[in-house]
Amino acid sequence: MRRSPGFLVSCLAVAALAVAATPLQGQVLVASPDGRNQVTVEILEGRLNYSLARDGRALILPSLLGFEFRGAPPLRDGLRITDTTRLSHDEWWTQPWGEVARVHDHHNELAVSVEEVAAPGRRFILRVRAFDDGVGFRYEFPGQDSLRAFEISDELTQFALADNARAWWIPSNWARKDRSEMLYSSGPVSLLDSVQTPLTMQTQDGRTFMVIHEANLVDYARMFLRGTRTESRLLRAALAPMADGIKVSGRTPFVTPWRTIQLADRATGLAPSVLGLNLNPPNALASTDWIHPMKYVGIWWGMHIGAMTWSSGPKHGATTANARKYIDFAAANGFGGVLVEGWNIGWDGDWIANRNAFSFTQAYPDYDLKAVATYAHEKGVRLIVHNETSGGIENYERQLDSAFALYRSLGLDAIKSGYVTDLTTEGHSHYSQYMVRHYRHVIETAARYGIMLDVHEPMHDTGERRTYPNMMSREGSRGQEYNAWSGDGGNPPEHETILFFTRLLAGPMDFTPGIFDILERSSGHTHRPEEPRVRTTLAKQLALYVVLYSPLQMAADLPENYEGQPAFQFIRDVAVDWDTTRVIDGRIGDYVAVARRERGSQTWFLGAITDEEGRTLDVPLSFLTPGKQYVAEIYADGPKANWLDNPLPVTITRRPVTSATRLRVVLAPGGGQAIRIRPAR
Ligand code: NOJ
Ligand code: CA
Repeated sequence: MRRSPGFLVSCLAVAALAVAATPLQGQVLVASPDGRNQVTVEILEGRLNYSLARDGRALILPSLLGFEFRGAPPLRDGLRITDTTRLSHDEWWTQPWGEVARVHDHHNELAVSVEEVAAPGRRFILRVRAFDDGVGFRYEFPGQDSLRAFEISDELTQFALADNARAWWIPSNWARKDRSEMLYSSGPVSLLDSVQTPLTMQTQDGRTFMVIHEANLVDYARMFLRGTRTESRLLRAALAPMADGIKVSGRTPFVTPWRTIQLADRATGLAPSVLGLNLNPPNALASTDWIHPMKYVGIWWGMHIGAMTWSSGPKHGATTANARKYIDFAAANGFGGVLVEGWNIGWDGDWIANRNAFSFTQAYPDYDLKAVATYAHEKGVRLIVHNETSGGIENYERQLDSAFALYRSLGLDAIKSGYVTDLTTEGHSHYSQYMVRHYRHVIETAARYGIMLDVHEPMHDTGERRTYPNMMSREGSRGQEYNAWSGDGGNPPEHETILFFTRLLAGPMDFTPGIFDILERSSGHTHRPEEPRVRTTLAKQLALYVVLYSPLQMAADLPENYEGQPAFQFIRDVAVDWDTTRVIDGRIGDYVAVARRERGSQTWFLGAITDEEGRTLDVPLSFLTPGKQYVAEIYADGPKANWLDNPLPVTITRRPVTSATRLRVVLAPGGGQAIRIRPAR
């Protein structure tokens, strides 16, 4: 045990107070059930620090913990440990839907009670949980006279990385406060400026993958990470501010979100990520029977390529007739839902500036909401209601109850919402505590009305779906839409191979795959090389249904673009709810192959995608049940296919397979492969 001379003095001073508590100073440790991951908590020069090691090798060096407040001294100095308690937990729980059905929550917990030696003598608990797949810690403030109402101006949590690991990151630059819709870069942590989580890193020796993120963000500001851009490998928590610059206002008793560090030996060991789910409270809903993963189509891509408009006029997409056409298409092809955007008053003119003019109950005259809802019901299809707020939060909250009551009365139980904005009308950062509270309020209100949610420009995912399984999917990253209108070339072929190991570790993403009109000829304008287009092969669009998990999975293209396309059969067949997920092979930014077994079925789906390089993967089907005969339906890149000049050819073949089969999966440059493996009849 390391002790600085100061400790002895303070130990003596507190001896009378801390009657039964042992050990009072020095290091306290907690290890994961497998013993590999170990967190150390200690006081160094009066300040609370934690560190993290795996297999005895330091990953995070002693790192500061604490807070700065407005109107009160920082909670940082002159601290002592007054008590420690321990717990162990071993439980399996079942998700109503998910990337895996069963989740193992197996951890050891250490709660460290900490107190300021001198006045004001504030107290808090640092609670640490060590799992085999990573660790989490949070601060808890008990109710106390010396700390009642407070305003946090900074959280002092640090992550002092032992290694100059390679990080895959997107910036949290304040010019695009609203979104996480940037392309990823990669480089050593020492060069990071301000970045978003989940932040995925690989140590230089390749031995360990680490992901810093947070869990159970309920009433707090979103955490970003700020580097120093010097040779230092120190990352600091940085909280998104409210309009007055304050990060968090609260009152004790109070708990912060968990700060999480997921760990794996290989990139393929990172997914499916359940650390954050295990750090969220269990399901709070009385019944989840009404919650249904589904595939959907929508009046959507037409607007993004400019063939239709959200606003009223001759190209208005959300007409009653058009909605019926989409409902017919969905019903004929076994899709569960139809999204209709641009149905409600407010889209005319600048819909971002005019955000407070959005009505969430009044439809445009050429869209008969009730008639469309009835028609959808008759056809056994769910109508997904669109609510774009443009960040007009008060405008939306004012209408929330009346709007949700209306949808409910029409039997509509799914909403796609949107928050395209830089700052809310009220002046708060998109990721501030104000917005965290708003998003949570919408989730809870939706749950009361029996409504499922798909949120675009969302708060980042911190595992809310465990407590509120109606919070199904969200965007929160650069999706397919950038291929329709982005002037910067859309999404490069490597993009989705990074998303899988970064953004998707937080939770499901509504990426909206399935564009078949790769060159976007249905936009009406002739295609020039520099114009927006999809930068994948068609087969890769199919593979994305398996690779990028979402319980709400869109077939994003116009219905007419699926006509006469044999490859469309894969989208009709692919599942959206999984019993088991196995990441077979992959390298961040290069390629990934994933196999998933459909929930309640013996059918597997396999998706493999690559960046701009063509590759051949050797995929053993050892995940299949031994001795059982299966048929593999293979949708592969066709001869000479490549994303750049020959993206469309798809070869569809069938072959018998067993668990002993090894498949040679050939991926074209920018290509992919999608396979359904079903039991032979
Ligand atoms: C951005 C969303 O990501 C997109 O899906 C939606 O169509 C537009 N906002 C309009 O709400
Ligand atoms: Ca978006």
